[in-house]
Amino acid sequence: METFVFLWLLLMFFTHLASSLTQDFSFIGFKKATPNLIMSGVTEIANTGAIRLTTDTSRVIGHAFYSLPIRFKPTGINRALSFSTTFVIAMVPEYVTLGGHGLAFSITPSPNLQGSLSSQYLGLLNSSRANISSNFFAVEFDTVKDLEFEDINDNHVGIDINSLESSISTPAAYFLPNSTKKELFLDSGRVIQAWIDYDSDKKRLDVKISPLSEKPKLSLLSYNVDLSPVFGDEMYVGFSASTGLLASSHYILGWNFNMSGEALSLSLPSLPRVPRPLKKKKSPGLILGVSLSCSLLIIAVIAVAVMFGIKKAKDEDRVEEWELDFGPHRFSYRELKKATNGFGDKELLGSGGFGKVYKGKLPDSEEWQSGDIRDVVDRRLNGEYDEDEVVMVIKLGLLCSNNSPEVRPTMRQVVMYLEKQFPSPEVVPAPDFLDANDSMCLDDASGGNAGEFEDFVDSARFYSGPNQTSTSSSIFSFAGKTKTDGR
Ligand SMILES: *[C@@H]1O[C@H](CO)[C@@H](O)[C@H](O)[C@H]1NC(C)=O
Ligand SMILES: *[C@@H]1O[C@H](CO)[C@@H](O)[C@H](O)[C@H]1NC(C)=O
Ligand SMILES: *[C@@H]1O[C@H](CO)[C@@H](O)[C@H](O)[C@H]1NC(C)=O
Ligand SMILES: *[C@@H]1O[C@H](CO)[C@@H](O)[C@H](O)[C@H]1NC(C)=O
Repeated sequence: METFVFLWLLLMFFTHLASSLTQDFSFIGFKKATPNLIMSGVTEIANTGAIRLTTDTSRVIGHAFYSLPIRFKPTGINRALSFSTTFVIAMVPEYVTLGGHGLAFSITPSPNLQGSLSSQYLGLLNSSRANISSNFFAVEFDTVKDLEFEDINDNHVGIDINSLESSISTPAAYFLPNSTKKELFLDSGRVIQAWIDYDSDKKRLDVKISPLSEKPKLSLLSYNVDLSPVFGDEMYVGFSASTGLLASSHYILGWNFNMSGEALSLSLPSLPRVPRPLKKKKSPGLILGVSLSCSLLIIAVIAVAVMFGIKKAKDEDRVEEWELDFGPHRFSYRELKKATNGFGDKELLGSGGFGKVYKGKLPDSEEWQSGDIRDVVDRRLNGEYDEDEVVMVIKLGLLCSNNSPEVRPTMRQVVMYLEKQFPSPEVVPAPDFLDANDSMCLDDASGGNAGEFEDFVDSARFYSGPNQTSTSSSIFSFAGKTKTDGR
């Protein structure tokens, strides 16, 4: 009996020792790490051995915490101990340079963050105004500018204490050995190493990042803070990530954590590769092609039916309730198809990452030709609008849609006009197409080609007023017709 009690005590002693003396750990890839990690959300270990916190699916969250709690305060002493960690991340955006939302190294009282939200909450909070009963510490690598948390830009590193409104943040960058600072894009898909060191004596937190294996000498963020009020005796360390409308795959490739000294830097070549982007679903075309060879007749019949259905669906357009209240904010597919001659090549102005841009003419859009600018205002407004503002918007609309690139203002100029830093243009040259037999069909000579659209986008020239544009064939003057005259 005595021996049993002794053995039992000994066992208790060692179990206690094991759980409270987790001083450091090291993961070079996570292939066999599953027993040492608590994962939740969409997190999984990718086949290369990286932790995939999130895929590039919209509005998902993922967590991965070290399975044992870390003792951050010595028993009976209310003082947070020093810690040091380094880890390697990669954020692969769904679309080039358009990823979201980011990931955070997190120290929380529990590895279970049930109810936490995606997007700007990074899977850490359930709402910005939630009364946080428990404290947390995080270093965020944020790739979306969220106004709610007063983010500085869409590529920053920040220190978050009990709130996602960073205590301090800075644009992501790293230092070369000769102290030159270089910008670093977090969601470029690049492998980035981060170092976080808390010095308990100096009460200082340092954050460094670099795309290299060597720890930079200079810190990106250096913040004087006492973490004692933030930490409980034991806390969990790990990572949290989320996606919003914009999405990236968030990866952790390696991780060293140390309570008893500086965490050793990770050697990037020794780490698992960033997994290739997940294959998108097979396109319907491919499926159709494969099936066709099996049963040509049945598929042909189905295909005809599907095409017929698609055409029908294309010609119909759903109008949402709010649109009825606020007037026609958008045009039906049918109207647009008619206005652009069935999206004919002749009406194609250009194409870019956002799709193709066509020139079109709607049946009722000639009204402003008659000269009185007020006729174009929606009558349902019952005259309740600021005429100056309406005039300004219409004039800018005309300027922006002009055929001659020299006349079109740049976005900066448009903003200057709208903010009244620049007086409203008095006269606006008419778009050329109004001369051309009132037809939207552009002949080759009058332009309407992709080059002109590029000019529109890239235009850096300044519309300097009536003098410069008086050579244009027709000038629209609103003088005498509106309140803006006589300026
Ligand atoms: C948010 O989380 C806290 C703590 O986890 C919880 O007490 C609170 O009820 C949650 N609030 C909402 C709105 O879910
Ligand atoms: C949060 O909780 C504290 C203490 O329980 C309380 O004093 C405070 O009013 C609460 N804040 C909000 C916004 O509910
Ligand atoms: C620092 O080093 C980089 C590359 O090694 C070099 O391009 C840069 O000019 C150097 N800057 C200074 C100030 O020496
Ligand atoms: C932690 O620090 C100690 C002392 O400097 C060192 O021997 C050990 O290798 C470190 N462990 C890790 C994982 O960095």
